[in-house]
Amino acid sequence: MGFRCMFKVLALFAFTLTVTATPVAGQAKAGCQSNCGNISIPYPFGTGSTDCNISKRFFIRCNTSFNPPKAFLTTSDIEVLHISVNGYLRIQYSVGYDCYNSSGSAYYFDAGFRLSAFRISHTRNKFTAIGCDTYAYVEGFTGRAYSTGCVSFCYDVADLVNGSCSGIGCCQTALPKGVTDYELSFDSYWNHSKVLSFNPCSYGFAVEDGAYSFSVSDLSNINFSKRKFPIILDWTIGNRSCMEAKMDVDNYACKQNSDCVDPENGRGYLCKCLHGFQGNPYLSNGCRDINECETLKPCSGTCHNLPGSYNCSCPKGFEGDGRKKGTGCNPKVKPHFPILVGTLGIGMSLLFSLLCSSWVYLGLRQRKLNRLKQQNFKQNGGVLLREQLSKHEEYGEIAKIFTLEELKKATNNYHESRILGRGGQGTVYKGLLPDGRSVAIKKSLIGNQSQVQPFINEVIVLSQINHRNVVKLLGCCLETQVPLLVYEYVRNGTLFDYLHNATHTSIISWEARLKIAIEAAEALSYLHSAASPPIIHRDVKLTNILLDENYNAKVSDFGASRLIPSNKEQVTTLVQGTLGYLDPEYFHSSQLTEKSDVYSFGVVLIELLTGLKAVSFERPEHERNLSLYFVSVMKEERLLDIVDGRVLNDKNIKQLKEVATLARRCVRLKGKERPTMKEVVSELQGLRAIE
Ligand SMILES: *[C@@H]1O[C@H](CO)[C@@H](O)[C@H](O)[C@H]1NC(C)=O
Ligand SMILES: *[C@@H]1O[C@H](CO)[C@@H](O)[C@H](O)[C@H]1NC(C)=O
Ligand SMILES: *[C@@H]1O[C@H](CO)[C@@H](O)[C@H](O)[C@H]1NC(C)=O
Ligand SMILES: *[C@@H]1O[C@H](CO)[C@@H](O)[C@H](O)[C@H]1NC(C)=O
Ligand SMILES: *[C@@H]1O[C@H](CO)[C@@H](O)[C@H](O)[C@H]1NC(C)=O
Ligand SMILES: *[C@@H]1O[C@H](CO)[C@@H](O)[C@H](O)[C@H]1NC(C)=O
Ligand SMILES: *[C@@H]1O[C@H](CO)[C@@H](O)[C@H](O)[C@H]1NC(C)=O
Ligand SMILES: *[C@@H]1O[C@H](CO)[C@@H](O)[C@H](O)[C@H]1NC(C)=O
Ligand SMILES: *[C@@H]1O[C@H](CO)[C@@H](O)[C@H](O)[C@H]1NC(C)=O
Repeated sequence: MGFRCMFKVLALFAFTLTVTATPVAGQAKAGCQSNCGNISIPYPFGTGSTDCNISKRFFIRCNTSFNPPKAFLTTSDIEVLHISVNGYLRIQYSVGYDCYNSSGSAYYFDAGFRLSAFRISHTRNKFTAIGCDTYAYVEGFTGRAYSTGCVSFCYDVADLVNGSCSGIGCCQTALPKGVTDYELSFDSYWNHSKVLSFNPCSYGFAVEDGAYSFSVSDLSNINFSKRKFPIILDWTIGNRSCMEAKMDVDNYACKQNSDCVDPENGRGYLCKCLHGFQGNPYLSNGCRDINECETLKPCSGTCHNLPGSYNCSCPKGFEGDGRKKGTGCNPKVKPHFPILVGTLGIGMSLLFSLLCSSWVYLGLRQRKLNRLKQQNFKQNGGVLLREQLSKHEEYGEIAKIFTLEELKKATNNYHESRILGRGGQGTVYKGLLPDGRSVAIKKSLIGNQSQVQPFINEVIVLSQINHRNVVKLLGCCLETQVPLLVYEYVRNGTLFDYLHNATHTSIISWEARLKIAIEAAEALSYLHSAASPPIIHRDVKLTNILLDENYNAKVSDFGASRLIPSNKEQVTTLVQGTLGYLDPEYFHSSQLTEKSDVYSFGVVLIELLTGLKAVSFERPEHERNLSLYFVSVMKEERLLDIVDGRVLNDKNIKQLKEVATLARRCVRLKGKERPTMKEVVSELQGLRAIE
């Protein structure tokens, strides 16, 4: 069989690798025409004045006699449809054809074009031929010699399938890599004589992959020869590699925040904005920071856009990388907390069988019990607390939620011998945690749903207080009907015991009392100022000032009075024990303020000065309220009559008098006439200094 070359479409292209990247809107050089019709012309391409294109080959000819205007490559008749700064451009070009009539060869179209600077992308185009008696070739000679092509036959229109280019009526082949020129030729075995009725022509064209879909009707459509198809051309800057180009600083095309990219195959180089930037790397300041926060919305937490990147952070109280694709933001919890909750069932059954307490039911009953605990946990605001804890900032200081089992074990099932004290607000037990820490566990007297929210807040606020003179709240347990609070255990008991109980034979010196008073005052002052809204202790009294092994004061029970139910009846019961300390204004306003703490603290000072009890049923009726009694004695200037004789001496008499004056100011009936805790602290410190 004799192949005859019917015509040649000569197309010389230099080939290079396409740098695939997402196309971004290009920009022209400043002062240059940025588009031709609706085609934008990004630098290094340019049109109009000579400075607008980086070199001759990047000149775009804009012909405004068309409407809309058309863009052409340099001086050629190749129309440009799109220019990308990412190293490619889309042109459109005619198909080549080879047609026959019954006499044989009838006509052909020689659509050859020649370009030195641009290359047909081998990755984004397909060489396509259609015809039923068609040999189509692509050959190259000027660079690396190559030859490829495809064959398409058919004998019957019925055999043809729309959209299929597998060799029946239509064939496709890839264009080789590394090809520097392009030559198209056709041949026909039967001169189309056997298919002339429905396919007189062979057609060949390079086309952007996916831009052409074979249609059977194209074989017979004589107008197909007038079609134009898009072709992707690759471009690069110059003919030097990145390394070479970078050494020629003056002509190096890549500007700020961009880097040079060597095309995998071929000469020249490309510029690419650095990761996190986008724009035109060939223009000065062309690469602009991408606001990933807006474009990607990558964070589940807070997104911070940074030059070239972004970071995600989690709101306070949350941890994780903050990324949607990463760990996200998860509530911060003590490491063992979720485990405790998660393994509630398993852990419990284990502990139960060990404890064998009388009320512990075996078998199925345990489940019921667990349900009850879960229910209590919920009722007591466990879920709420867990939420709050996770929202809260200071992770390290946040309270732990203890399980009932832990606390039962720690208190030897709330054994009598473990009771440290009973009060209006509950019973306090000594507990021993598995890690060896001693704790004080208080069974609170609440259980009213309306108290849940304040209780939760309380726990959160208290658990974060970190002051050396404040007893630390370690956590709580919510599985019982009444919440259990877990505090740091303070070894030496209450100041009340030291001052009033006969069991303590050693009396506290005045110096020690003053030190304790200052420390307690500092703690209260801290509470009043550290948080907003201020934390009001509301139940300052001797029994709530604890002493550690070094006789450092630790204000305890703090904030507990906030748990006083609003219900009036209970109020009276609850405050009864501490009546002598209670702010008289409370009876008018039913409100406890910072100044209420100042009042109570004044009473404490009086106790330290006199050794008398705030409420004493041993004294005559009119003397039962210590502060009133004290004030009346002060008025009569009989202070020394009631000062604790065990601490009074010549040296400290001045100091004692000063403290008495301060105490008197603290217990003024009107809150606003009392000093603040801060003032109390500085006055006491000043008094100690003058000694
Ligand atoms: C330009 O305009 C033509 C005709 O109005 C339209 O077919 C073509 O899609 C437009 N190109 C772009 C990039 O908008
Ligand atoms: C831009 O292209 C035009 C036309 O080819 C040419 O005259 C001019 O020198 C080119 N500009 C640069 C900077 O090379
Ligand atoms: C624009 O196109 C018209 C019609 O093809 C042609 O006559 C004219 O010379 C072209 N002008 C330029 C500047 O290329
Ligand atoms: C075939 O095409 C040739 C060239 O165009 C023409 O001279 C000839 O008359 C045509 N033959 C028929 C049968 O149309
Ligand atoms: C192929 O598609 C054309 C329209 O593009 C349609 O007219 C023709 O019937 C289709 N032929 C087959 C075999 O599906
Ligand atoms: C095809 O046409 C050529 C002349 O154009 C002729 O030499 C050749 O014999 C023909 N082949 C067939 C198979 O008709
Ligand atoms: C080819 O184009 C011409 C003019 O554009 C039109 O008159 C004719 O019908 C077309 N033929 C086919 C088969 O579409
Ligand atoms: C690069 O191009 C310049 C002119 O643009 C030419 O003089 C030089 O020989 C070329 N270098 C290579 C390695 O092709
Ligand atoms: C995120 O970026 C902001 C702004 O520069 C910075 O303040 C913050 O510390 C960063 N966060 C992380 C987790 O790197």
